[in-house]
Amino acid sequence: MPTRTKIKQLLQEAKVGEEIKVAGWIRSNRAQKTFSFIELNDGSTLGNFQIVAQNELFDSSDLTTGAAIIATGKLVESPGGKQKVEMQAEKIELVGGCPADDYPLQKKRHSFEFLRTIAHLRPRTNTQGAVARVRNALAFASHRFFQERGFLYLQSPIITSSDCEGAGEMFQVSSLDLNKPPKNKDGSIDFSQDFFGKPAFLTVSGQLNGEAYATALSDVYTFGPTFRAENSHTARHLAEFWMIEPEMAFADLADTAKIGEEYLKYLVKYAKENCEEDLNFFDQWVEKGLHKRLDHVLEAPFAYIPYTKAVEILQKSGEKFDFEPKWGIDLQTEHERYLTEKHAKKPVIVTDYPKEIKAFYMRENDDNKTVAALDILVPKVGEIIGGSQREERYDRLEAKFREHELDIEHYKWYLDLRRFGSVPHSGFGAGFERLVQFITGMENIRDVIAFPRVPGQVEF
Ligand code: 4AD
Ligand code: MG
Repeated sequence: MPTRTKIKQLLQEAKVGEEIKVAGWIRSNRAQKTFSFIELNDGSTLGNFQIVAQNELFDSSDLTTGAAIIATGKLVESPGGKQKVEMQAEKIELVGGCPADDYPLQKKRHSFEFLRTIAHLRPRTNTQGAVARVRNALAFASHRFFQERGFLYLQSPIITSSDCEGAGEMFQVSSLDLNKPPKNKDGSIDFSQDFFGKPAFLTVSGQLNGEAYATALSDVYTFGPTFRAENSHTARHLAEFWMIEPEMAFADLADTAKIGEEYLKYLVKYAKENCEEDLNFFDQWVEKGLHKRLDHVLEAPFAYIPYTKAVEILQKSGEKFDFEPKWGIDLQTEHERYLTEKHAKKPVIVTDYPKEIKAFYMRENDDNKTVAALDILVPKVGEIIGGSQREERYDRLEAKFREHELDIEHYKWYLDLRRFGSVPHSGFGAGFERLVQFITGMENIRDVIAFPRVPGQVEF
């Protein structure tokens, strides 16, 4: 009995005449008079594998769309021309029984909205299969990119007591009984009786921990889940998303911009070289012109625009924006998209934002008005990377905590990094789902993560 071969491998390596065994899920079964064409998919590749089976080999009412089968037979040339090879089945085994009548995935196009309601079954569709394979490739390529450059992979904690972005958008983690929490005399909740002895949260970013390791091991990166309790209902926000966060010692903002650009180009190149079939699919069905857009990312150097200049460009653009661009106000998605899609027509690195709109840890520039921050904006998605040089000067950082009204007690260990061998250091965070959107052209971030978590939605 030959061992099972995945369809991808089979199409690359198997020879006509060989005995093979395939296993997967039926996408369709077209019965002719004496035999049937079964289209089988096992997720290893986009395309289905055609099995030609005499009708006496199986009970036709069993082998419906969604059924799992193991088929054994001979690989033969396919006369049809749609595919090069197919299987002449000798044995077909139904695994797991005949699917119930209400199997929701029929051979037609389903809307992405509908598919989100059956997120447990949508990986069996072409689009979700392709997204999963590209996502997998991009995760691997991310590790490879940083490993090739001598970065050390750090697993930073998920549960934390510090708010990295200082924005107060954290989910609280507690083992107290929410119905009757212990109280202090003044009526407030007594967190000394909670699991950690004080309030704890799901992390919004691994950066602060990354800084501790970068100021010992030089170059590190995290790649893990992060959480934001912000009530955003957009096509670019999730409550749970994955972030890649490199942090480099003895590095400034320019080093960070350079590695950010290299990283994005590396991912595009990797996807083009390793996910050709899936990208062709996205180019045909999801975003016409995807290949061209991606090629263009590789061709040109990214544009560098300081924030102050960006605001001028927006003000002079003659565009009608919902939010009027104004110095001191954060760029909105419509502004970001104008800069990258219409002005530069390529990715843009916006630098040196007003300090008031950025996080406490960013290094203040000599103008005392801006900080050494950067956002990398790309067509379609807008902000895909956010980073900065970190404030490495003890006094300046301490003053920042006061300005931002943050409790220094929570950040004492972080300040310590500025007391013991402090060095200029810098890093960024890349939103992994936005990277997948950028490379696949998928419009909605809820369709590039397996089980999206957004306000009001924690199904599956
Ligand atoms: O710009 P952000 O908030 O930066 C940080 O968290 C820094 N601590 C990163 C660092 O310097 N180490 O987030 C970084 C990126 C954004 O550019 C965006 O791509 C993504 O994370 N992101 C989100 N992705 C999906 N859903 C959300 N709610 C996101 N918020 C941020
Ligand atoms: Mg940001």
